[in-house]
Amino acid sequence: MSKQTVLTGITTTGTPHLGNYLGAIKPAIEASENPAFDSFFFLADYHALIKCHEPERVARSTREIAATWLALGLDTDKATFYRQTDIPEITELTWLLTCHTSKGLMNRAHAYKAAVDANRDAGNDDLDDGITMGLFSYPILMAADILMFNADIIPVGKDQIQHIEMARDIAGRFNHSYQPLFNLPQAQVDEETQLIPGLDGRKMSKSYDNTIPLFCSRDELRSLINKIKTDLRAPGEPKDPDDSTLYQLYSLFATAAERAQMRQRFLDGIAWGEAKTELFEFLDAKLTAPRQRYNELLSDLGYVEQVLHKGAEKARALAIPFLEQIRIAAGIRPLTYVAPQVEKSAAKKEEKSAEELARIEEGRRRAILKQVQGLIDRVHLAPNKAEEAQTVVAEKTAEVEGLKKRARERAQNELDLLREELAAYL
Ligand code: TRP
Repeated sequence: MSKQTVLTGITTTGTPHLGNYLGAIKPAIEASENPAFDSFFFLADYHALIKCHEPERVARSTREIAATWLALGLDTDKATFYRQTDIPEITELTWLLTCHTSKGLMNRAHAYKAAVDANRDAGNDDLDDGITMGLFSYPILMAADILMFNADIIPVGKDQIQHIEMARDIAGRFNHSYQPLFNLPQAQVDEETQLIPGLDGRKMSKSYDNTIPLFCSRDELRSLINKIKTDLRAPGEPKDPDDSTLYQLYSLFATAAERAQMRQRFLDGIAWGEAKTELFEFLDAKLTAPRQRYNELLSDLGYVEQVLHKGAEKARALAIPFLEQIRIAAGIRPLTYVAPQVEKSAAKKEEKSAEELARIEEGRRRAILKQVQGLIDRVHLAPNKAEEAQTVVAEKTAEVEGLKKRARERAQNELDLLREELAAYL
């Protein structure tokens, strides 16, 4: 069986946090180590412009996310790692797909609908107020990201499932209109990593402002962990590990043995302060080496840029010829282009039109035959058929000669047919 292609992108609007690491980056890097998969990971920087119009922030986030993947040990010889905007074919494909995406499908996109609802709730008469075409057609750009590399599996968060379904719809429509060029991609959602809690116990997310940046300094990490919400249970009082953000974050990084031990300490009534110190030391130990590498990369951005360029080259080696195929399928071709299939189907057309011509000719004959059938019958009924045939043809000839052009043509046709039909006697 050929390899499955796994592809995912991260929008470059924020600083990577523990939730991004556990939910997206770590499983992606693990998949890229698996020889059953071809992996494509990218910085979705054109997606960033949909929701963020702060250039410094987009640029900073792009540097940080690139450095994060590399610091965490992504092997860019195994995976194809690139920046979306280094692949102009993706934006070109976006337009080709846009022309096959019904507006109604985009009207149903969650992100767009949420923005419309927010306007409605705010009593705004203009329901599209503040909504850009970028936000509206965002699922098409995402479909292009995926279809450009004919990806099979798209690891994403739950909020992105609808976009993968839209990519399937769009691919299906394109395939149906032209040629079956696109795979239909599938979302892969890991339920466990959907639940990484943030400082306040809700899902860790930029939008809740409850994140722990993956590579913040040791001091910042300590102070953030100290902010994690706990209850009022006193030291010595048993604590439910499953109800504790501290335990959950610990367990996401721990081995089974470490987890079991920490569970016991919770049940035995570990003090919250102590649990926080334990979590801090534990995470800090895990993060020290990649944090150092991250900081080195951020002060050697020329190198990171080079890695991205190499990735873009690898990606474009696939994207350029595939886009050419897609454009050709849609009729965007060099003027001199002659497709082999087109030749074949043109030949088919000729065959068909020869058949058709024969049918038309047959119809024409039958119509004329009706006109002259009486004359033919006269010949057949005559005792001297040869004589009668000559007379009939002579009469018709005289008629033809005495006629004006149009009528003459008609009579000439009749005469020709008579000669044919009566050839045996003439
Ligand atoms: N829109 C995705 C998000 O916000 C990021 C993304 C862009 C993506 N293009 C993609 C994810 C293609 C998977 C595949 O999370």
